Amino acid sequence: MAVLLLGDIFPNFEAETTIGTINVHDFLGDRWGILFSHPADYTPVCTTELGRAAQLSEEFKKRAVKMIALSVNSVEDHQGWIKDIVAYNNEDPGYTLPYPIIADPKRDLALALGMLDPDTRGKDGMPLTARCVFIIGPDKRLKLSILYPATTGRNFDEILRVIDSLQLTAKKRVTTPVNWKPGEDVIVHPSVSEEGAKAFFPDGVCTKQLPSGKNYMRYTPQT
Ligand code: BEZ
Repeated sequence: MAVLLLGDIFPNFEAETTIGTINVHDFLGDRWGILFSHPADYTPVCTTELGRAAQLSEEFKKRAVKMIALSVNSVEDHQGWIKDIVAYNNEDPGYTLPYPIIADPKRDLALALGMLDPDTRGKDGMPLTARCVFIIGPDKRLKLSILYPATTGRNFDEILRVIDSLQLTAKKRVTTPVNWKPGEDVIVHPSVSEEGAKAFFPDGVCTKQLPSGKNYMRYTPQT
């Protein structure tokens, strides 16, 4: 299993999904993408996560992020489970889940993408998939990867916050501080010189003075 590092091209593959066979790179096109994996169908934490991801799908769409889920069961299992997720979200039975779920019944993809959680095993004794989040850029490169154990559900609001930071910092020479939220001040990237900061950030740069005398805490409004 090759370890997937930030900046690597996200591997392309064909997968059986709840919307038919997809080629992942073609599916993503020139958009951002999120692939989020799940330990197994018909499990409670996963049901809450897939429900929340569906509720937030318009927010992902606003950010031009295509969503794909993955779970180790078959398409047939996924189709049955989706009915539960729809009911869990109190949606009408005719509601269409706004993203496909990849079937990975033999765990081939989970293994290839380094998603298996050796501490969590299914009834058959086989390791289940961890709760992996991969954010893929329009250049198909991996921008972020987070791995949660099966016991701990993700926070999809935090994932949207991270996407806002990734999309902003991909375009502008800034970084986002702890607990940053869109609209709050950002930090000038450390690689930007003082002259560069004046040129790039006409709205001004406010430098916090520190005992070291080093001027690295340079805040500027988010534009
Ligand atoms: C869950 O989604 O609830 C879950 C799945 C596998 C192991 C533990 C919890």
